[in-house]
Amino acid sequence: MSNPIAVLGSINMDLVTEVPHLPQPGETVLGYKFSRYPGGKGANQAVGAARLGAPTSMYGKVGDDSFGDELLHELAENGVDFSKVGREGNASSGIASILVNKEGENVIACAAGANDRVDVAYVDSLLSAISQADILLLQLEIPLTTIDHLLRQLPPTRPRVILDPAPAQDLSSLFLERIDILTPNSGELLALTGEHNVEKAAYRLLDWGIKHVVCKCGEKGAYLIDRERSYRFPPFSIDAIDTTAAGDAFNGALAVALAEGKPLEEAIRWANAAGALTATKKGAQPSLPTRAEVDRLVKQGAVSGRRTWTRDELHR
Ligand code: RIB
Repeated sequence: MSNPIAVLGSINMDLVTEVPHLPQPGETVLGYKFSRYPGGKGANQAVGAARLGAPTSMYGKVGDDSFGDELLHELAENGVDFSKVGREGNASSGIASILVNKEGENVIACAAGANDRVDVAYVDSLLSAISQADILLLQLEIPLTTIDHLLRQLPPTRPRVILDPAPAQDLSSLFLERIDILTPNSGELLALTGEHNVEKAAYRLLDWGIKHVVCKCGEKGAYLIDRERSYRFPPFSIDAIDTTAAGDAFNGALAVALAEGKPLEEAIRWANAAGALTATKKGAQPSLPTRAEVDRLVKQGAVSGRRTWTRDELHR
């Protein structure tokens, strides 16, 4: 029996420095604090889904180093099935160097390490397990050729595929017709298409064969654009201290809600709350919310422009 949620993607150790502002090229800034958190877009999405109560399998690779041990330990602690995660000799685990400013914004540079070894042979060995999942979550921190191969090998309708096109890359080599939902942020959406307008960019992606575009626009909320509708979901008003993994929380929650049979609009509302909550805590995986926290925020309602929920109210 396979788990309903499958995630294929990156597993990183995040090395985070808090800085007063994000440096310009050539500039050195004095940071306040250094921390280390388990991260990686793939692993964050898997932990995010598991923390919301969905049985989840993580597929990817770590190095044969102490970071690899810690990263697998974190997946285990969160109840993620990592039995098929590979350990690569002669490779370091993936590393993300992250700077976070006072507004909670970040810049991230990744050294792929073992994530780059997630190859076609590895996904071929997982095809049967992945094909039995309800939802497959993908991102772009493993080789594009591997993702394209998997999309072409999957059965035509199951699992439903959610691709988070981050970091943004040229998608023209991918079998886009097999993607049900693409979840870029607004910067990625424009970068992917060369358009300057969210709606126009989304229609371009629909023309390329993607079925639904869900744009994560942070403090502006989220957009759903497909052939039937163009709809904006208002944001939840929160005090952001670190937006790292907010997008991953969104994707994990979206997958859980859809696997549970929620309609897409309701699933996006729920995912929006999960993303907002993640921005109220520091770090990637430590900041991913529980189901009770997401349910509570959804019940309180999206209150853009009217009220900012305090951190105590959100997490009590
Ligand atoms: O989306 C956030 C993640 O991006 C971080 O955890 C970092 O590892 C990078 O992959």
